[in-house]
Order: sequence, then structure tokens, then C-alpha cells
Amino acid sequence: MSNVKFYKNQDLPLELHKVRIVQKLHLVPIERRLAALKEAGFNTFGLSTNDVFLDMITDSGVNAMSDNQLAAMMQADDAYAGSQSFVRMQKAVEDVLGKRYLLPVHQGRAAENVLARTFIKPGDVVPMNYHFTTTLAHILEVGGSIVELVSDNALELHSDNPFKGNMDIDKLVAFIEETGVEKIPFIRMEASTNLIGGQPFSVRNMLDVRQVADKYGLMLVLDASLLGENAFLVKQREKEWAENSMGDILKMITGLADIVYFSARKLSSSRGGGICTNRHELYQKMEVMIPLFEGFLTYGGMSVREIEAIAVGLYETLDETMISQSPTFIKYLVETADAKGIPMVTPAGVLGAHVNAMEFCDHLRQDEYPAGALAAAFFLCSGVRGMERGTVSSVRDEAGNEVLSDAELLRLAVPRRVFTLSQINYVIDRLEWLHDNRKLIGGLRWTYEPRVLRFFMGKLEPTSNWPHRLMEKFREDFGDSL
Ligand code: F0G
Repeated sequence: MSNVKFYKNQDLPLELHKVRIVQKLHLVPIERRLAALKEAGFNTFGLSTNDVFLDMITDSGVNAMSDNQLAAMMQADDAYAGSQSFVRMQKAVEDVLGKRYLLPVHQGRAAENVLARTFIKPGDVVPMNYHFTTTLAHILEVGGSIVELVSDNALELHSDNPFKGNMDIDKLVAFIEETGVEKIPFIRMEASTNLIGGQPFSVRNMLDVRQVADKYGLMLVLDASLLGENAFLVKQREKEWAENSMGDILKMITGLADIVYFSARKLSSSRGGGICTNRHELYQKMEVMIPLFEGFLTYGGMSVREIEAIAVGLYETLDETMISQSPTFIKYLVETADAKGIPMVTPAGVLGAHVNAMEFCDHLRQDEYPAGALAAAFFLCSGVRGMERGTVSSVRDEAGNEVLSDAELLRLAVPRRVFTLSQINYVIDRLEWLHDNRKLIGGLRWTYEPRVLRFFMGKLEPTSNWPHRLMEKFREDFGDSL
């Protein structure tokens, strides 16, 4: 399956599912899109879906569910305690992720809250391949900090490094020696490293990290939110694993971690999340947090219907036909746009295509938030909602200074089995138009900047009248069309 070709002379993806429920989309006129952007404070999180044509803000909680998931949701066992739905989720976690003890949580960041409160004390430092926004926020909230240890070349946006998510083992060892194990609560590995473009780590690297963890007696925690896609790319890119099943690869990776946690909003096309382990003493340490923050131990803030959907979704992660859909569409989007000269993050990763906004908008300074500006400009010219992944998504330092992000990316998420190939072609076409007119894109500045996770609720404004100029150019080129 991994390297199947569907066309004789072309490398095009093919939908291996049929669409049986549809939702009508609206492509509103550009004048409305501009008004919507103003109302949203030029932050795509502030947009209403009534104004959005293709919603590519995330793949989280919006992957298409399967008929089997929907069927399972109908036979959920509603009970505060001891629900059979939870028993089915436990069994799925054990079968697919190989972990016996499961703590349910309402979503991924809730797992991060539990981990941070249980294991991190003020002054601790957590080494990781790369942070995710919510992970960092929870670690900072309990007085800890992080250090990111991907290889230097992982941050080269245009590259052919197949495993940019790998931890640099020399850096990890040097960090542990310098810091001392007593200040390191655990090592964290994130599957398909989200913020550097959905880039995977290799099984080889995970084995090496495990060896270091063993040598220093440190715990290894895996963020498995995007583990399915990471495993799929291992199968494609890591020769030793090409012939193994998805199940083998998933279990191999999770078997190396002491604790595995996940956002089921990504991992199983559903909602919710979980923390799992085979070490009973770790389970017991975390257990108390569940009734405190989430709900009883057999639902953890999730509805039983979600729990049923997670159980089925976890088994579906073993199906390469299902898991391959989003990465192959992303690969097509990235490689087609790249060939047109649009600066894309390569190699194509998972969860979405990423545009290098620093290069796209090389006439803007980084403190004018090029990724945020590009996200706004792209929505304006296409109705496609992407997400800023750059300085707007990072955090100021203690003195209040802006910390410029390693990369300025526009993320265009491709949720599983939601969009068709012609919709992806529309995205490429509008990206190309915007790229031809990129000098019209101007900067942004804050008008409202919250202290925590500012990118969600913050509001910005353009530093000049550039959105109007872009709209005028669009009207010139497209006439009255949308
Ligand atoms: N870890 C990773 C790697 C994630 O990508 C996410 C969420 C979380 C943890 C937090 O999970 O949303 O269920 O609380 N990523 C979403 C995204 C929000 O759009 O990339 P959550």
C-alpha cells in the first residue's frame, strides 16, 4: 500500500472511500471575507465557519468519522462509573498501543495538565524533540521550562531530511550531563512533530532515546497524538520497517515509552484523549488528577459516545488505507505548490501542508508577523482558513520581549477524508495567485494580546491599508467571481 501508484503516468492520490454524508459549503464574496477578517481581529481563530469555505485551521476533532465509528456511538453504555464503553476503549488501547492502564481525559492538553502537575516541580526542565503550544503552556504553568533538541538541520524548512522530528542524541546526552537528572522529570518525544511541519521521528531514533533514558534512569513520555501518521511515514521512509504492519510499528514505538498520552481528536478521528502506561506505580501517581480535573475514572470528561468512537478509531489506525489518506493528499499539495515556486516546508509532513511565510513574505520583518499576515491574506483571497504557526503562536519572555519563532509558517491542515482532490487543487491555485501578488501583503500588530495562548483569543490589525489593496487586485484579476 505505501508505495502504490494509482495512475499509469502520474503520481496522483486517489480517495479510497466513498462520501455518504455531505455538508454544504459557502464561498462568500471577497468583500464579506474582508469584513469577517476585521471582525476576527485578523486572527483566523476568530472567524465564523459561515464565512469559511475550506476549513484548514486544524485536523483536530474534524477528521471524517467512519460508518463503523458512528454505529458504535449508537450503542454506547451511559454510566457514570464502570461503563462498558470505557472497557472497550481500554481494550483498544491495549490492543493498538500495547498499554494496560488507561486514564481518560477530555482532550490532549488535559493529559498535559495531569503530567505537568504530577511530575514537574518549579525549576525542572523537560528535554523534548520540539514543543507543542499546549505542552509548553502547561509546563510553564507549574514553574518548569523546556529545551528543544531536534538537530539543527530540522529547522531548515526546505530539505530532504526524512526524519526532522528526530531527537539529536548528542545534544540530549550533553543536556542531561549539564543539567543533572534530578532536574529532569522526563524526556518527551512528540510523534509527527507538529510545530516544525508535522515531521516524523524514526524508530531508530526512538530506540536511541530509550537507551539514553535507561542509562540515566529517566522516564520517557510519548505524545502520540499524531502517532498513526508518524508510523505510516516510518513505513514509507525507514527501510527496516517497510515490510512491517502499522500495528507492528505502532507497538514498537509505544513499547519504548513509559507513558503514552494522546489527543484522540487527532489519533482516532474523534474527541477526547488518554494517558496510558504499563507501569502501575505511574498510573497510581496520576490517577488522583482525573476525578479532580476531568471526571470519574471511566469517562474522564468525555461522553460515552466519544469513548466508543475512540475505541473504533484506534483500531482503524491500523488500516493503512485510512491513515495514508491525509499524508498522500498533503504530499500532493506540497509537491505541486513547491514545483510552482511557492516556498513550502519539505519534505511533506503530516496533518497539513506548511508554507514558509518568511520566504513568501520576505519583504516583511518578523515582528510584523509574516505568518499571521499570510494566513489573513490567504483567507482573503480564497476563503480557505489556515492557521498561523510562528511568532504569534509563541510566548513573550519574562521581561515582556517578543521571542521570535524559529519559523514562520502558514499551516493548511488536511483533515482525513474531508476534502476532495479538486478542493486541494483550488487551494494550490489560490496560493499561486497570492504568491504572484505577495508584495501586496503587509504586516500586522496587536490590538489585544492575552498573556496565555495569545494566538487563540488575541486580536491584531493591519499596519497599513494592504488588505484593501489586495482585494482590489483580486477584483481586477477575478472580476466578479468569488
Ligand atoms: N499534542 C500535540 C502534538 C497536538 O498536536 C495537540 C493538538 C495537542 C497535544 C493538544 O491536544 O487539542 O486535544 O488538547 N493539536 C491541535 C492542532 C490543537 O490543531 O494542531 P488537544
